[in-house]
Amino acid sequence: MITLQSLPYSRDLLKPTLSDETIDFHYDKHHKGYVDKLNKLIHETKYESKDLEEIIKESYVYKEHLVFNNAAQIWNHDFYWKSITKYKEVNLPSDDLLEMINENFTSLDDFYTAFINAGATLFGSGWIWLIQDPDTLKLEIMQSKNADNPLIYNKTTILTIDVWEHAYYIDYKNDRLGYLDKIVKFNLNWDFAKSNITFEQPE
Ligand SMILES: [Fe+2]
Repeated sequence: MITLQSLPYSRDLLKPTLSDETIDFHYDKHHKGYVDKLNKLIHETKYESKDLEEIIKESYVYKEHLVFNNAAQIWNHDFYWKSITKYKEVNLPSDDLLEMINENFTSLDDFYTAFINAGATLFGSGWIWLIQDPDTLKLEIMQSKNADNPLIYNKTTILTIDVWEHAYYIDYKNDRLGYLDKIVKFNLNWDFAKSNITFEQPE
């Protein structure tokens, strides 16, 4: 049995980037919908006693698309709610994280441009991710279609933004770029990102 993870804050916290109405639909209808659907799908199957990550990895390998899509969407949404936080006019990562972003993307502004562009150019529904290669510790930007996520590519996930239309349509209609421009610059949860990153050890 998979449970719906609580939102990590009150639902008016993301204003003015996202309205209560967007969160009501996104969390109560879409996110909860994936949880309800998955629990029906795995009832009395080999997946019933497994945790969410095991279900995602196993159903991907066995090409059980319906189970995979619903399980991955739950995980992706759990990660999305934690990847964003209260709107801040000046929203900067800590110095050590900023240094790492500068090393990998030249500057924070260049990271914003590349991350937003990844979302704007993703055809159809999907996600954008900041990921870390577990071997080289290099930070990279990744697009994924539909429910795909970095777990199936054995990458470490640092941050994600949902670019399914249901994430922004109430507030932005078809203006995906307008949504991305606000949420990426003012609502990324850099403390959460830092908690997911492995920093290089001094030689
Ligand atoms: Fe979503």
